[in-house]
Amino acid sequence: MHKIVLIPGDGIGPEVTGAACRVIDAAGTKTGVNIDWIKCPAGAEALQQGHDDVLPQVTLDAIAEHKVALKGPVTTPIGKGFTSVNVQLRKKLNLYGAVRPVRNLSGVKTRFTDVDLVIVRENTEGLYSGIENEIVSTPGASVVTSLKIASEAASRRIAKFAFEYARERERKRVTVFHKANIMKLSDGLFIRCSAEVAKAYPDIAYDERIIDAGCMKLVQDPNQFDVLLLENLYGDVISDLCAGLVGGLGVVPGSNIGDEVAVFEAVHGSAPDIAGQGVANPLAVLMSGVMMLNHLGETDANAKQAAEKIKHAYNAVLDEHTTVTRDLGGTASTAAFTDALIQRL
Ligand code: NAI
Repeated sequence: MHKIVLIPGDGIGPEVTGAACRVIDAAGTKTGVNIDWIKCPAGAEALQQGHDDVLPQVTLDAIAEHKVALKGPVTTPIGKGFTSVNVQLRKKLNLYGAVRPVRNLSGVKTRFTDVDLVIVRENTEGLYSGIENEIVSTPGASVVTSLKIASEAASRRIAKFAFEYARERERKRVTVFHKANIMKLSDGLFIRCSAEVAKAYPDIAYDERIIDAGCMKLVQDPNQFDVLLLENLYGDVISDLCAGLVGGLGVVPGSNIGDEVAVFEAVHGSAPDIAGQGVANPLAVLMSGVMMLNHLGETDANAKQAAEKIKHAYNAVLDEHTTVTRDLGGTASTAAFTDALIQRL
């Protein structure tokens, strides 16, 4: 029995996590993987339940205790209000490495074929420090500052994480995107640490791209990239850009990894524009669930088998293309797509 913390989240979160859990449980029944989902609140849901914090201590404690979580997206107010739950969660649990595999799926037609790259994002520093000040508040002449933090320890840690990931998965190249021509100290430190760490991995090629030119190359010819190593903000932006290369946010999973704990979640947000309509694509959360099962598979061979079963099921349903959600060009509801996946297991 695996005890997994489940954070349904906001907006489409409960719809897509609910669907993903149905598929994971069905695959578990067939392969002998038992999951006890421990539902914990975060975001608006936490406030609705009467907690006085969007990231209640009870949720943090549960993740720290059980070590693994599957998380739905959480809404963050724009330009005001509380600090992002995601930023807090990643910092408080020291989930320093985000891993986001971006791959073409045969049943999802896009401009490109054979895209197969992995984004490794530093999750704890950069402009997401949340340290912002209004230094002049005169109406019409306001001036604010946002502090970008880069430490040698965190930069080395994420570089080592990216190279270890690349070596384990027999990846050939790690490319850092940066803007060290302008942010000479912060991005300069990030690439200096990356280049130093790279020396310990002579089997993996290493290169650096200035991010603006890197973006142009990504949209022209993504197949030239393998593992992308990025500081926090660049990792956030490039993740969505790369999702666009392979069919959108509905098909890109992710994980947030620390030394003790792992939280699996899709790249996408709470999609308020389609929340409650039953049309969201649950695949990105389900694929994050597959990453979670593979993580559990390090100690439970049945979990790896369940992951494989789910992969075969979604590839078959996508290839058939009769029951897919709106974002993938179909008309199926979240529930109908989920039923089709379960039938295919
Ligand atoms: P978003 O990712 O929620 O939505 C962007 C677009 O993609 C929308 O048109 C949406 O309908 C579509 N989309 C996203 N996921 C989809 C899915 N599974 N199926 C079908 N279509 C999907 O990004 P947006 O609108 O910028 O952010 C909304 C909220 O989500 C914000 O409050 C933001 O802070 C939060 N957010 C939370 C994240 C997390 O919890 N990990 C990550 C990104 C954003």
